[in-house]
Amino acid sequence: MVGKVRISPSILAADMAHIAAELHRLEEGGADMVHVDVMDGHFVPNISFGSKFVHDMAAITSLPLDIHLMVSDPYRWIPEFYDLKPYSLLFHLEATPLPVRLLQDIRAHGILCGLAINPSTPWQHLESIAPILDMVLVMTVEPGFYGQSYLPWAGSKIEAIDKNIRPRNQNLIISVDGGVNEKNAPHLAQTGADILVAGGSVFKGESYKDNIDRLRNT
Ligand code: DX5
Ligand code: ZN
Repeated sequence: MVGKVRISPSILAADMAHIAAELHRLEEGGADMVHVDVMDGHFVPNISFGSKFVHDMAAITSLPLDIHLMVSDPYRWIPEFYDLKPYSLLFHLEATPLPVRLLQDIRAHGILCGLAINPSTPWQHLESIAPILDMVLVMTVEPGFYGQSYLPWAGSKIEAIDKNIRPRNQNLIISVDGGVNEKNAPHLAQTGADILVAGGSVFKGESYKDNIDRLRNT
Protein backbone atom coordinates (compact mmCIF):
# COMPACT_ATOMS: atom_id res chain seq x y z
CA MET A 1 0.00 0.00 0.00
CA VAL A 2 1.29 3.47 -0.91
CA GLY A 3 -0.39 5.27 2.04
CA LYS A 4 -3.64 5.37 3.94
CA VAL A 5 -6.54 3.97 2.01
CA ARG A 6 -8.60 6.57 0.10
CA ILE A 7 -12.36 6.44 -0.41
CA SER A 8 -13.96 7.06 -3.80
CA PRO A 9 -17.76 7.02 -3.43
CA SER A 10 -19.53 5.88 -6.59
CA ILE A 11 -22.03 8.53 -7.68
CA LEU A 12 -24.04 5.84 -9.48
CA ALA A 13 -25.61 5.03 -6.10
CA ALA A 14 -26.62 8.65 -5.43
CA ASP A 15 -30.05 10.23 -5.81
CA MET A 16 -29.60 11.62 -9.32
CA ALA A 17 -32.49 14.04 -8.91
CA HIS A 18 -30.55 15.81 -6.15
CA ILE A 19 -27.03 15.51 -7.45
CA ALA A 20 -25.80 18.85 -6.08
CA ALA A 21 -26.90 17.97 -2.55
CA GLU A 22 -25.41 14.49 -2.85
CA LEU A 23 -22.02 15.87 -3.96
CA HIS A 24 -22.14 18.36 -1.11
CA ARG A 25 -22.73 15.53 1.38
CA LEU A 26 -19.69 13.69 0.00
CA GLU A 27 -17.54 16.82 0.35
CA GLU A 28 -18.73 17.36 3.93
CA GLY A 29 -18.18 13.67 4.61
CA GLY A 30 -14.52 13.81 3.66
CA ALA A 31 -14.57 11.76 0.46
CA ASP A 32 -11.16 11.81 -1.24
CA MET A 33 -12.66 11.87 -4.73
CA VAL A 34 -15.84 10.89 -6.52
CA HIS A 35 -16.07 7.77 -8.69
CA VAL A 36 -17.98 8.36 -11.92
CA ASP A 37 -19.36 5.31 -13.74
CA VAL A 38 -19.99 5.98 -17.43
CA MET A 39 -21.90 3.12 -19.12
CA ASP A 40 -22.91 2.74 -22.75
CA GLY A 41 -25.54 -0.02 -22.55
CA HIS A 42 -23.30 -2.14 -24.79
CA PHE A 43 -20.17 -3.06 -22.84
CA VAL A 44 -22.45 -3.51 -19.83
CA PRO A 45 -26.22 -4.16 -19.73
CA ASN A 46 -27.03 -0.72 -18.33
CA ILE A 47 -26.88 2.97 -19.30
CA SER A 48 -25.87 5.51 -16.67
CA PHE A 49 -24.92 9.00 -17.90
CA GLY A 50 -22.56 10.61 -20.36
CA SER A 51 -20.21 13.51 -20.87
CA LYS A 52 -22.80 16.30 -20.35
CA PHE A 53 -23.80 15.05 -16.93
CA VAL A 54 -20.16 14.60 -15.86
CA HIS A 55 -19.33 18.15 -17.00
CA ASP A 56 -22.30 19.51 -15.04
CA MET A 57 -21.11 17.61 -11.96
CA ALA A 58 -17.57 18.88 -12.36
CA ALA A 59 -18.88 22.45 -12.43
CA ILE A 60 -20.39 22.15 -8.96
CA THR A 61 -17.91 20.01 -7.02
CA SER A 62 -14.36 20.45 -5.80
CA LEU A 63 -13.88 16.69 -5.54
CA PRO A 64 -11.40 15.12 -7.97
CA LEU A 65 -13.12 12.92 -10.55
CA ASP A 66 -12.22 9.22 -10.73
CA ILE A 67 -13.80 8.33 -14.08
CA HIS A 68 -14.54 4.67 -14.87
CA LEU A 69 -15.67 4.05 -18.43
CA MET A 70 -17.61 0.85 -19.03
CA VAL A 71 -17.87 1.38 -22.78
CA SER A 72 -17.12 -0.74 -25.84
CA ASP A 73 -15.28 2.03 -27.64
CA PRO A 74 -12.98 3.83 -25.16
CA TYR A 75 -11.08 5.55 -28.01
CA ARG A 76 -14.33 7.33 -28.91
CA TRP A 77 -15.34 8.41 -25.40
CA ILE A 78 -12.18 9.04 -23.35
CA PRO A 79 -11.23 12.33 -25.11
CA GLU A 80 -14.64 13.78 -24.10
CA PHE A 81 -13.28 14.07 -20.56
CA TYR A 82 -9.80 15.53 -21.15
CA ASP A 83 -10.91 19.13 -20.64
CA LEU A 84 -12.13 18.31 -17.12
CA LYS A 85 -8.61 17.35 -15.99
CA PRO A 86 -9.99 14.51 -13.89
CA TYR A 87 -7.88 12.69 -11.30
CA SER A 88 -8.04 9.49 -13.35
CA LEU A 89 -9.44 8.03 -16.55
CA LEU A 90 -9.99 4.28 -16.44
CA PHE A 91 -11.26 1.98 -19.17
CA HIS A 92 -11.58 -1.77 -19.50
CA LEU A 93 -8.86 -4.08 -20.74
CA GLU A 94 -11.64 -6.30 -22.10
CA ALA A 95 -12.88 -3.46 -24.33
CA THR A 96 -9.84 -3.29 -26.61
CA PRO A 97 -6.83 -5.39 -27.57
CA LEU A 98 -4.97 -2.13 -28.27
CA PRO A 99 -4.94 -0.15 -25.01
CA VAL A 100 -1.41 1.25 -25.22
CA ARG A 101 -1.95 4.33 -27.42
CA LEU A 102 -4.93 5.41 -25.38
CA LEU A 103 -3.12 4.98 -22.06
CA GLN A 104 -0.24 7.05 -23.40
CA ASP A 105 -2.64 9.70 -24.68
CA ILE A 106 -4.38 10.01 -21.29
CA ARG A 107 -1.01 10.42 -19.58
CA ALA A 108 0.07 13.01 -22.13
CA HIS A 109 -2.91 15.07 -20.96
CA GLY A 110 -1.56 15.04 -17.39
CA ILE A 111 -4.23 12.60 -16.16
CA LEU A 112 -3.63 9.29 -14.38
CA CYS A 113 -4.34 6.42 -16.77
CA GLY A 114 -5.61 3.03 -15.77
CA LEU A 115 -7.17 -0.25 -16.78
CA ALA A 116 -10.10 -1.97 -15.12
CA ILE A 117 -10.41 -5.75 -15.17
CA ASN A 118 -13.61 -7.74 -14.84
CA PRO A 119 -13.89 -10.53 -12.26
CA SER A 120 -13.29 -13.22 -14.91
CA THR A 121 -10.09 -11.61 -16.25
CA PRO A 122 -6.88 -13.03 -14.73
CA TRP A 123 -4.59 -10.49 -13.08
CA GLN A 124 -1.74 -11.86 -15.21
CA HIS A 125 -3.25 -10.06 -18.22
CA LEU A 126 -1.94 -6.83 -16.68
CA GLU A 127 1.62 -8.08 -16.29
CA SER A 128 3.12 -7.04 -19.59
CA ILE A 129 1.49 -3.62 -19.61
CA ALA A 130 2.19 -2.79 -15.95
CA PRO A 131 5.08 -0.37 -16.58
CA ILE A 132 2.84 2.14 -18.39
CA LEU A 133 -0.10 2.02 -15.97
CA ASP A 134 -0.76 4.56 -13.23
CA MET A 135 -3.73 2.64 -11.87
CA VAL A 136 -5.50 -0.68 -11.98
CA LEU A 137 -9.15 -1.06 -11.05
CA VAL A 138 -10.01 -4.55 -9.86
CA MET A 139 -13.72 -5.23 -10.31
CA THR A 140 -15.16 -7.35 -7.53
CA VAL A 141 -18.62 -7.52 -9.12
CA GLU A 142 -19.55 -7.79 -12.78
CA PRO A 143 -19.81 -4.17 -13.88
CA GLY A 144 -23.15 -2.55 -14.65
CA PHE A 145 -24.96 -1.98 -11.37
CA TYR A 146 -24.31 -0.80 -7.84
CA GLY A 147 -25.49 -2.74 -4.81
CA GLN A 148 -24.26 -6.18 -5.91
CA SER A 149 -22.54 -8.68 -3.62
CA TYR A 150 -18.76 -8.69 -3.33
CA LEU A 151 -17.00 -11.60 -5.05
CA PRO A 152 -14.16 -12.69 -2.73
CA TRP A 153 -12.31 -14.71 -5.38
CA ALA A 154 -12.08 -11.56 -7.51
CA GLY A 155 -10.84 -9.58 -4.50
CA SER A 156 -7.99 -12.04 -4.05
CA LYS A 157 -6.42 -10.56 -7.19
CA ILE A 158 -5.52 -7.45 -5.15
CA GLU A 159 -2.92 -9.36 -3.18
CA ALA A 160 -1.53 -11.01 -6.33
CA ILE A 161 -1.20 -7.63 -8.07
CA ASP A 162 0.41 -6.10 -4.97
CA LYS A 163 2.95 -8.91 -4.75
CA ASN A 164 3.67 -9.53 -8.41
CA ILE A 165 3.06 -6.30 -10.31
CA ARG A 166 3.73 -3.50 -7.84
CA PRO A 167 7.44 -4.43 -7.51
CA ARG A 168 7.79 -3.57 -11.22
CA ASN A 169 5.89 -0.31 -10.92
CA GLN A 170 6.34 1.21 -7.46
CA ASN A 171 3.90 4.06 -8.12
CA LEU A 172 1.05 1.81 -9.23
CA ILE A 173 -2.26 2.68 -7.55
CA ILE A 174 -4.53 -0.29 -6.88
CA SER A 175 -8.23 0.46 -6.70
CA VAL A 176 -11.10 -1.97 -5.99
CA ASP A 177 -14.69 -1.58 -7.13
CA GLY A 178 -17.80 -3.59 -6.36
CA GLY A 179 -19.58 -4.59 -3.16
CA VAL A 180 -17.01 -2.90 -0.91
CA ASN A 181 -18.35 -2.54 2.63
CA GLU A 182 -17.10 -2.15 6.19
CA LYS A 183 -16.69 -5.94 6.52
CA ASN A 184 -14.39 -6.53 3.54
CA ALA A 185 -12.67 -3.11 3.56
CA PRO A 186 -10.03 -4.01 6.20
CA HIS A 187 -8.93 -7.08 4.27
CA LEU A 188 -8.83 -5.19 0.96
CA ALA A 189 -6.69 -2.41 2.46
CA GLN A 190 -4.36 -4.88 4.17
CA THR A 191 -3.80 -6.89 1.02
CA GLY A 192 -2.85 -3.84 -1.05
CA ALA A 193 -5.80 -1.69 -2.12
CA ASP A 194 -4.99 2.04 -2.14
CA ILE A 195 -8.47 3.23 -3.15
CA LEU A 196 -11.81 1.72 -2.13
CA VAL A 197 -14.68 2.55 -4.49
CA ALA A 198 -18.00 2.27 -2.70
CA GLY A 199 -21.57 2.92 -3.81
CA GLY A 200 -24.22 1.23 -1.73
CA SER A 201 -22.19 1.32 1.48
CA VAL A 202 -21.73 5.13 1.32
CA PHE A 203 -25.11 6.30 -0.02
CA LYS A 204 -27.26 4.98 2.82
CA GLY A 205 -28.52 6.13 6.19
CA GLU A 206 -28.25 9.55 7.78
CA SER A 207 -24.54 10.25 7.66
CA TYR A 208 -22.34 9.69 4.62
CA LYS A 209 -19.45 10.89 6.80
CA ASP A 210 -19.93 8.01 9.24
CA ASN A 211 -20.10 5.57 6.34
CA ILE A 212 -16.92 6.97 4.77
CA ASP A 213 -15.09 6.99 8.12
CA ARG A 214 -16.05 3.38 8.76
CA LEU A 215 -14.60 2.34 5.40
CA ARG A 216 -11.44 4.40 5.82
CA ASN A 217 -10.60 3.48 9.40
CA THR A 218 -9.88 -0.10 8.62
C1 DX5 B 1 -20.37 -1.14 -11.07
C2 DX5 B 1 -19.69 0.16 -10.86
C3 DX5 B 1 -19.37 0.42 -9.42
C4 DX5 B 1 -20.58 0.48 -8.52
C5 DX5 B 1 -20.14 0.33 -7.10
O1 DX5 B 1 -20.51 -1.34 -12.43
O2 DX5 B 1 -18.48 0.21 -11.57
O3 DX5 B 1 -18.58 1.59 -9.29
O4 DX5 B 1 -21.29 1.68 -8.66
O5 DX5 B 1 -21.26 0.24 -6.27
P1 DX5 B 1 -21.28 -0.78 -5.04
O6 DX5 B 1 -20.20 -0.35 -4.08
O7 DX5 B 1 -22.66 -0.63 -4.45
O8 DX5 B 1 -21.03 -2.17 -5.56
ZN1 ZN C 1 -17.03 1.81 -11.09
